[in-house]
Amino acid sequence: MILARLPSFLLAALALVPAALSAATAVVRGPYLQSATPTSLVIRWRTDNADASYVRHGLAKDQLTLTAKAEGITTEHVVQLNGLTPGTQYFYSVGGAPEKPNADGDDKPLKSPIYAFTTPPPVGPAKATRVWVLGDPGTKNAAQLAVRDAYTKFAANRPADLWLMLGDNAYPDGTDYDYQKAVFEIYPETLRTIPLWPALGNHDGHSANSDTQSGPYYDMFTLPTRGQAGGVPSGTEAYYAFDYANIHFICLDSHHTERTPDGAMMQWLKADLAATTREWIVAFFHHPTYTKGTHDSDRERQLIEMRQNFLPVLEAGGVDLVLTGHSHVYERSFLLDGHYGQNETFDATAHVKQPGDGRADGTGVYRKPRGRVAHAGEVSVVTGSAGHASNKPVPLNQRAMWISLNEAGSTILDIDGLKLDFTFLNEKGEKRDWFTIEKQ
Ligand SMILES: [Fe+2]
Repeated sequence: MILARLPSFLLAALALVPAALSAATAVVRGPYLQSATPTSLVIRWRTDNADASYVRHGLAKDQLTLTAKAEGITTEHVVQLNGLTPGTQYFYSVGGAPEKPNADGDDKPLKSPIYAFTTPPPVGPAKATRVWVLGDPGTKNAAQLAVRDAYTKFAANRPADLWLMLGDNAYPDGTDYDYQKAVFEIYPETLRTIPLWPALGNHDGHSANSDTQSGPYYDMFTLPTRGQAGGVPSGTEAYYAFDYANIHFICLDSHHTERTPDGAMMQWLKADLAATTREWIVAFFHHPTYTKGTHDSDRERQLIEMRQNFLPVLEAGGVDLVLTGHSHVYERSFLLDGHYGQNETFDATAHVKQPGDGRADGTGVYRKPRGRVAHAGEVSVVTGSAGHASNKPVPLNQRAMWISLNEAGSTILDIDGLKLDFTFLNEKGEKRDWFTIEKQ
């Protein structure tokens, strides 16, 4: 309609504009960082037009002397960088094929701005590590943005080394569009600088299938199936493990994968726990073992099965921290062991390894022996309010919990040597819970 009103000489001039210029390729998703190991990293991005996949990188902004690429022309770019130096900052730019002579000079290949990432340190030795944990973030609403901004301010001088999403990452259905709006357009800076390790939630499962490894969740994430980031190969992206310094992370699929005691996920978990020699074990999955928030762990199948079947194995394997979401509240337990029944069966004498708040400035930090000692105690945390808290009253009477809050917020872990400091930060930037686990 507007074109029809243009003078004919302008229309003629527009017709001469080279197609390549009018259809200049742009990055429309990412870049984002996946499957980081001390010596390798996967960088992904999406372009509006099909293009080649190149990552130029190097140790200084003006020295992107290394090139990694993937074969073919695509809009979904997945490039693995290998041969990296552990614990080292790299600068990078993503884009199409390297500059080539061009007749009119207009058809420049795509080059993104220059970003930076730092490779994980060597596996084994301790290194001060910060982890940002988001449960149920992807609401696209004001609470999600407030939680993000509160963390950004909190971590301005010490950003995270890695971040976890505990499932229901993009509402309502975990579709490609939902992820675009609720994840990629909300956290672009974090996505391109810090490796993200996600878990599958029930809303992600509306559009994804763990058995066939298909659907948007499985299409957009590159997760270790062969044990390439540490741990025993799981053979699936639905559940996996990875190491970072002296920490072993275990991600389980509490939604779609079979949760029986003799299922494949359980067999893998037992093997993986038996094999790790890291000092700390952090497990994360979507459905909480204990909650009385917007969900009830006495009544819902996934939650009961994670508590009855998986928690005993995790505790026997020496797990230190269990992070979950699904319930849009914050609930944090005492240092616990052996509580696998319903809420009314909780027995403080039998199930609390150490009472109190776990705080150095309170009743004292939680203490555990060094190494992976079976049934030495774990703290269970429901941190499922990174997208919103409950808008209705919730019971919050889970007896295993030291504190229960109906507040939006996210969780920050600071693990340094034999000490783990935990913070729950609400959407106003207030530290609403904290505790420490120390090993000796
Ligand atoms: Fe959920």
